[in-house]
Amino acid sequence: MSNSIKWQSPSNIALVKYWGKRDKQIPTNASISFTLKNCHTTTELIYESKETTADYDINVFLEDELKESFKPKIISFFDNISHKVSFLKQYKFTIKTSNSFPHSSGIASSASGMSALALCICSMEEQLTDKKFNKADFLKRASMLSRLGSGSACRSLYPGLASWGKHEAIPGSSDEYATPFTDAHPIFKDFQDTILLVDQGQKEVSSTVGHSLMNGHPFAANRFQEANKNLSIIKDILKNGNLQDFTKLVEQEALMLHAMMMTSDPYFLLFKPNTLQIINKIWEYRNQNNTNFVITLDAGANVHFLYPKSEATEAMTLINNELIAFCENNAYISDEVGSGPIQLA
Ligand code: DP6
Repeated sequence: MSNSIKWQSPSNIALVKYWGKRDKQIPTNASISFTLKNCHTTTELIYESKETTADYDINVFLEDELKESFKPKIISFFDNISHKVSFLKQYKFTIKTSNSFPHSSGIASSASGMSALALCICSMEEQLTDKKFNKADFLKRASMLSRLGSGSACRSLYPGLASWGKHEAIPGSSDEYATPFTDAHPIFKDFQDTILLVDQGQKEVSSTVGHSLMNGHPFAANRFQEANKNLSIIKDILKNGNLQDFTKLVEQEALMLHAMMMTSDPYFLLFKPNTLQIINKIWEYRNQNNTNFVITLDAGANVHFLYPKSEATEAMTLINNELIAFCENNAYISDEVGSGPIQLA
């Protein structure tokens, strides 16, 4: 007899970036992100008990297609959580997953994918033991397990904003799981994020490799210090809603992230010429029109164009008139701050 569990979990975009880790997915600095709404992964976990417990038995399907290439990442996730979840070798798993965004969009699916899978595992624990966690403990556990799959995934569990990493200014913060940031000014509750898809191909350097290049990086100690300082500062900005300060801090963080990549050994560049074209166009428009347009980047060439909802019409006009020309196949994804994962029937 088989049982099934299904969760939908969103992606997130960091405002203060996680870049560098040690030990078992422990971040070298604290980070904070907006949880997104429209970019999400839906994962169904079907499980049935099996006779032998020597090894994992996993089949993964992406959009109904068997994906052998996804298996190693899931096996390594199961290995990473095996000290916390003891039953994984006792069941045969079928994992059916799909993303709301095109697989080849250059949008990382690890945050949404790993958080959706971790939520399924936590629900499975509840089903097996007949024990119900309270909601906060359930999400904390799902966040902790997600982190062991992909660091940034642990922030996707919460609505609005979530921070991850022990930090003196954030009570209850931990290196092992994210915590919700609930004091945000209303302006941030429906902040918009249009993701301008400059390059929809596979990333040339994975985040995992990028993180490892922070070991022995000449600027590592300063970077970690700056990031932690920025987290203290953004905490106040997120409370008081000062968009000028928000813009400066978020853009500095994005550029500092890429500066770390450019000064690693070996060094690498994830910017593309069109990334810079878009950034310059947005800055030019902002300077001329006094808008609160903000750019940020993750570890790739796509530009996350952030703006308050009240400026959406103006932003969309700029996107359609000037920015889509620099996007691959004119493609972009309209997203905004979202309300976290949901369990599906
Ligand atoms: C630049 O979470 O993808 O997006 O822990 O190795 O899976 P792993 O890395 P990942 O790194 C994300 C890096 C980032 C910044 C951020 O999201 O904070």
